[in-house]
Amino acid sequence: MQQRGVTVWFTGLSGAGKTTISRGVEKELRARGYSIEILDGDIVRTNLTKGLGFSKEDRDENIRRIGFVSHLLTRNGVIVLVSAISPYREMRREVRKRIGDFVEVFANAPLAVCEERDVKGLYKKARAGEIKQFTGIDDPYETPEDPEVNCHTDKESIDESVKKVLDYLASKGYIE
Ligand code: PPS
Ligand code: MG
Repeated sequence: MQQRGVTVWFTGLSGAGKTTISRGVEKELRARGYSIEILDGDIVRTNLTKGLGFSKEDRDENIRRIGFVSHLLTRNGVIVLVSAISPYREMRREVRKRIGDFVEVFANAPLAVCEERDVKGLYKKARAGEIKQFTGIDDPYETPEDPEVNCHTDKESIDESVKKVLDYLASKGYIE
């Protein structure tokens, strides 16, 4: 089978569900035999983009590098699942343009819900001023205007969100 490459780009606030949904999609597609790679902000920041912080310049550089690798993989037939807050619309537009086969998934949950979940305890620290430039608290997040898939993770289950992504990929012929 000659697989078509695509980058599935999960954007959204910390705690909105980017990693969780992408892992669900990964599990399902691996079980079906597809070649998958995961580029998760939390992980690539310990290697590919190690040393970068959370200023606009560093976030842009982070996204540019992730986009570069995603492009290489995508053009070689891999399904690339990126999870990065990617708060700036202009950078998302730039990677979309470069990669071409690009699907934007908005992990969409209100800030209040993400803060209530506070899975990693980072919102609490941000509110206490222990972490600066925290997305949604004292740093911007530019909401996607027209994402291919919009996952309302405060209202739908993880399985429903995963299914939305899979259905979209199937509708475009990236998967069967
Ligand atoms: S970005 O904006 O796309 O470059 O960010 P990303 O590479 O996805 O990294 C986000 C993860 O880093 C942790 N973290 C922060 N997030 C936002 N703002 C600040 N200041 C910050 N400091 C650390 C956090 O665990 C993010 O992971 P997720 O999975 O989004 O919760
Ligand atoms: Mg994550």
